[in-house]
Amino acid sequence: MSDTDRVLSSFTQEIREERVYSDRKLRVGIIGTGWIAEAHTESYLKQPDVEIVAMADLIPGKAEKFAARYGVTGCNLYPDHKSMLDNEKLDAVSVCTYNTQHAVCTIDALNAGINVLLEKPMTATVEEAADIIRAEKASGKLLSIGFQPRMDANMKQIKKIVESGALGKIYYIQTGGGRRRGIPNSTFIEKKTAGIGALGDIGCYSLDMVLNAVGYPRPLTASGYTSNFFGTSTEYQKPEDAARFDVDDFAAAFIRLEGGLVLDFRISWAMHLDTPGDTVMLGTKGALRIPSTECWNGSVGGPMTLYYDLAGEQVETVIPILDEDESGLFDKKIRSFLDAIIFKLPPPVPSNQILYNQAIINAIADSAALGREVEVKIPEV
Ligand SMILES: NC(=O)c1ccc[n+]([C@@H]2O[C@H](COP(=O)([O-])OP(=O)(O)OC[C@H]3O[C@@H](n4cnc5c(N)ncnc54)[C@H](O)[C@@H]3O)[C@@H](O)[C@H]2O)c1
Repeated sequence: MSDTDRVLSSFTQEIREERVYSDRKLRVGIIGTGWIAEAHTESYLKQPDVEIVAMADLIPGKAEKFAARYGVTGCNLYPDHKSMLDNEKLDAVSVCTYNTQHAVCTIDALNAGINVLLEKPMTATVEEAADIIRAEKASGKLLSIGFQPRMDANMKQIKKIVESGALGKIYYIQTGGGRRRGIPNSTFIEKKTAGIGALGDIGCYSLDMVLNAVGYPRPLTASGYTSNFFGTSTEYQKPEDAARFDVDDFAAAFIRLEGGLVLDFRISWAMHLDTPGDTVMLGTKGALRIPSTECWNGSVGGPMTLYYDLAGEQVETVIPILDEDESGLFDKKIRSFLDAIIFKLPPPVPSNQILYNQAIINAIADSAALGREVEVKIPEV
């Protein structure tokens, strides 16, 4: 923990206690009561200065069952996000819907003057991400995107190593990760709900790990490939899941970024290989190897190695893993969002960075469909 972090966390703890006893609690609503809403709800329930006052879900009876399961009594329940926003006075919402509903729910909430914590990936399309940012700017409210790996000490260490100058000028990054077998089902495997497959679901994390470290340079072009041999096969999927599977389960791309940096990317929900490779950053003074990760649990896959020359010799330093409680990452994501609202801090994960993440994802999908390199479209916001 840096000195600033230490001071800030002791400061926010003091104020938090004050608010609990001397001010009203923040009124929070949950939009979409599916799987990830569980983690949001569990974290909000641990916060002393928050009350969950409303929940909404399109599926009849789902929000009711969800609220009962968590003992959130006295919470108002709604059949969709709009009726909740129209009828409640809220300070903040968590948007926990599937990807194709992210934009409409986030824009409606911002237009209603409510702060938003939006789950990843930001949206299904880059145009939607731009629409969200326009609504964010017009509203003056806080929007943070739900990348909890950003809270992980090892992820922060990668950024610190880059910023220390130990790698010199970084010119090549290889990143990605994923699984030999691990296709989610439910709403993740159809275009109408997910919009994109592994590329959006876990690809967004791999991209964020390295792009955040190097300061999110503007992406310029992408040459992408996507496939779904496993997702559509009854050899690996239940017939009903194979029949509705119409997103990617594997993607690879070569991306050019401003400043002469290139990014070699690959991501997998399923393949006949244990890992698509470690993350590697090559610089003029050194290189960093980050062991491959499954991308969902928010940390790196093992100790990192720094390669450099010292007194004429080629040497390596192993950077030990910093202990991090996985469940704690989600609590940090929720708490940092709340603290940013209370203390008017910048969003923990700002939308203008994730716009580039989304633009790359979309360019990879477009390039794969066209079978050639494309310019990365970044709408004006
Ligand atoms: N941060 C993480 O670690 C993490 C992990 C898993 C999923 N996610 C993300 O969370 C999101 C949701 O995933 P999930 O697995 O919970 O999906 P899910 O399908 O289980 O739940 C989504 C719920 O949203 C509801 N919904 C959709 N539109 C709505 C609307 N307009 N108003 C009210 N309810 C609406 C659906 O009926 C559904 O019940 C996805 O974007 C996913 O990528 C993040």
